Amino acid sequence: TTRFTRRTGLLAGAALAASTSGARADEAVAPITLRDLADARGIRIGAAVASRPLANELAYRDTLAREFSSVTCENVMKPSFVQATPGYFDFHASDAIVAFAAAHGMTVRGHTLVWHQQNPAWLERVAAVGENPAGALRDHIVGVVRHYRNDSPAPVPVWDVVNEALTDNGLMRDTLWSRALGPGYLADAFRWAHEADPDARLFYNDFGAEGLGRKSNAVHAMLRDLVGGGVPVHGVGLQMHVGIGHGHAPSGTDLAANIARLRALGLEVHVTEMDVKLQTGTGPDASRLADQAQVYADILSTCLDAGITSFTLWGFTDAHSWIPGFTGKPDGALPFDTAYEQKPAYHALARVLAGD
Ligand code: G3I
Repeated sequence: TTRFTRRTGLLAGAALAASTSGARADEAVAPITLRDLADARGIRIGAAVASRPLANELAYRDTLAREFSSVTCENVMKPSFVQATPGYFDFHASDAIVAFAAAHGMTVRGHTLVWHQQNPAWLERVAAVGENPAGALRDHIVGVVRHYRNDSPAPVPVWDVVNEALTDNGLMRDTLWSRALGPGYLADAFRWAHEADPDARLFYNDFGAEGLGRKSNAVHAMLRDLVGGGVPVHGVGLQMHVGIGHGHAPSGTDLAANIARLRALGLEVHVTEMDVKLQTGTGPDASRLADQAQVYADILSTCLDAGITSFTLWGFTDAHSWIPGFTGKPDGALPFDTAYEQKPAYHALARVLAGD
């Protein structure tokens, strides 16, 4: 596999040649990281972060800080965590992740303010039968965004304001918020977030809308209407939960066309939650890992060419991934294995970032 070095930015062989022609031969050369390579391109490379391993595992912390320049809280910024009790905001878990990011010069993608999952029971009740559901949603959004606003000690400059509001058929999803407030809740959510921090970049985030199809057409149409209506929406997150094997990832041409039409609306496009399942493919482990590396490489390469500015993975180590719990099957969807060793997918991402 290709090896990059931090000191010279050259391949190991070239670094060796350089060291024999001047630098001390015994000088330690730190490997170049995904983060270094993304910095050189002016984009962010990110990972979703879970609180427990961040607190308990040195290898988790080291790898995260070394390889990534952006973090997303995998769970602890969601309503069931930050407002478990009405009116009482508890940011201790999310603040710990935001502080880690700040200490390591990483940025934070805020995730997520409005979703149909991971809401506290009281908020679901207010949405279903409460007197003022709009007020409760507004208070939640404003409470969270204000805590992390631009002039706070640890600002969160980007938010997934609304998550997964459409169905696979491209219809408005029937959720606590669509039922309580009607489809206008989307525009209101963006307006409330904007009011709480006028400097924050506000995103709509969804899955299964990466390539071309019914759902991505609907996402595009919805965003076109929001932008056209003067609603403060600045970007779109393509989650990118994909897999190896035929039909489990968007084609490069479809992905490029979709990103282009979203950018033509004036929106910034981020990949927000990428992982690549192995269980959707067949064959021996080595060939499935090679297929996985190819999927990561193809998608990153298409996204870079298409002008995305941030590329986040949903985790980074197979030791901590939502996929086995969700599918009920072991997997290995991320670029580091359970021992934090780099997999073929890691080297593929590095090669693409390096422009090889
Ligand atoms: O907090 C409880 C804990 O108290 C309890 O002991 C434990 C026992 O199972 O469960 C904990 O809740 C879990 C929660 O994550 C926090 O760890 C839930 O069971 C579990 O279902 C939940 O899963 C999260 C899922 O969102 C919720 O739908 C995943 O970790 C998280 O990766 C996933 O992330 C979503 C994005 O936010 C949006 N896009 C899709 C993505 C994958 O589903």
